[in-house]
Amino acid sequence: MDTAVSNLGVTTGEVILEFSYLLAAVFFVIGLKLLSHPQTARRGNMWAAAGMLLAMITTLIFHKSEAGGGIQMVNLIIILVAIATGTVLGSVIARRIQMTAMPQLVSIFNATGGAASALVALIEFSNPDNESTLVTLLGLVIGSIAFSGSMIAYGKLDGKVGDVFAGFMKYLNLFILLVVVLFIIYIMAGNTPMETQQVLVYVLLAVALVYGVTFVLPIGGADMPVVISLLNSFTGIAAAMAGFIYQNQAMILGGIFVGSAGTILTVLMCKAMNRSLLNVIIGSFGGGGAGVDREQGIVKEITASDAAVLLSYSSKVVIVPGYGLAVAQAQHVCNDMAKLLENEGVEVKFAIHPVAGRMPGHMNVLLAEAEVPYEKLVEMDDINPDMPNTDVVLVIGANDVVNPAALDDPSSPIYGMPIIKVHEAKNVVVMKRGMGKGYAAIENFLFFADNTRMFFGSAKDSLQKLVNEIKNL
Ligand code: TAP
Repeated sequence: MDTAVSNLGVTTGEVILEFSYLLAAVFFVIGLKLLSHPQTARRGNMWAAAGMLLAMITTLIFHKSEAGGGIQMVNLIIILVAIATGTVLGSVIARRIQMTAMPQLVSIFNATGGAASALVALIEFSNPDNESTLVTLLGLVIGSIAFSGSMIAYGKLDGKVGDVFAGFMKYLNLFILLVVVLFIIYIMAGNTPMETQQVLVYVLLAVALVYGVTFVLPIGGADMPVVISLLNSFTGIAAAMAGFIYQNQAMILGGIFVGSAGTILTVLMCKAMNRSLLNVIIGSFGGGGAGVDREQGIVKEITASDAAVLLSYSSKVVIVPGYGLAVAQAQHVCNDMAKLLENEGVEVKFAIHPVAGRMPGHMNVLLAEAEVPYEKLVEMDDINPDMPNTDVVLVIGANDVVNPAALDDPSSPIYGMPIIKVHEAKNVVVMKRGMGKGYAAIENFLFFADNTRMFFGSAKDSLQKLVNEIKNL
């Protein structure tokens, strides 16, 4: 679009474009702030999306090519067709996806973000006007790792890909990382003709893709949350690198926001899992070991009416939700039961483990959807000291996050991960369908403990039975 030129040599279009990027950045910040609470998160998403839409529209209208002209008609048509296809595909998938498959969808979105940034870097490497070779190569490597790593993470979350653990993987990953660094140094040195460099860049792309696979494949047990947040931050960083290549502030800022939010989440997840970041980057931790063989003991069952009596005559009850609650979509009936107990004078709290479920904040979102008051949600570190004074802990579809092997079995793949210490409560009632294992695929000896009773059935049916029994008391 033709616009007037000021006496500073800046066109009105350029001013509008820069201003729209600033405004988009403000929208991103507001969006991030609102995303930090489940009740405002939906609005946060809308603000951030509106910021991105604004930046896209103004770029299409006011961006000038290096040659000084506006966008060519053929390019505009290609871009609009791509946007329309992406919009239709994205909205159909997002509408159809089951809530329980959300983590897989997030992984695929992550992968596409990484792939897009890697492709930008690949194309722009041979552009003679591109002076940021290092940034381009880093964008290519990080974007490729985010792509292949997220695809493997998707396969693992969906149960299509198993853990591939071998002691040598750690060394293999270190070796591949070293190869990547050497390639970058060699290409940067620029001692080879451009044609050779282009071939080397394709080899670098392939090596980075392989690293994404070998780094995520061995991550086992319950350690996936750390990897997922790390891949998320990689996607953001790769997008910021692509923004640097194009000198586009909106891309740089958006990428930095995603990258830094992902990095903060990675640090929080490392803390939650008691792991070091170095371990994650080199990979191959948390897989392997299966824990010591112990005598299983006897499983003691409890009926709905006995559980109702136990809960109603307690003074303190703690509910520990897990992935099974999300699968059963039992959050609403769970809240109904909690309200019934409170009407009987029982104090009810919900204990939230940072990696319960399959997404960061999964349980918070699930319970917020059922309108469980936010102040009833207590974090693991705050609830644990209260456990010995708790009359009944009701574990609903949780397994790994309450597995005492994390505390007392050094051979267990989850050893060292902080857990909700439900075994210290006076009584534990575990609601699940059978004796199925959790995500880490290991035995949980909590189910055989003296103070534990198992209440078998799908969480929604079992909770509905409990609600009926409590009402009839
Ligand atoms: P899990 O350890 O995955 O255990 C869930 C349990 O729910 C299963 O043992 C299953 O037993 C039960 N279940 C399944 N469907 C059910 C239903 N309809 N009704 C009742 N129970 C049902 O869950 P958790 O304790 O929440 O732990 C989360 C795990 O996922 C951790 O290992 C964590 O590291 C990992 N992970 C977390 C994330 C994030 S970011 N949160 C991401 C990736 C992986 P039955 O089959 O016997 O019913």
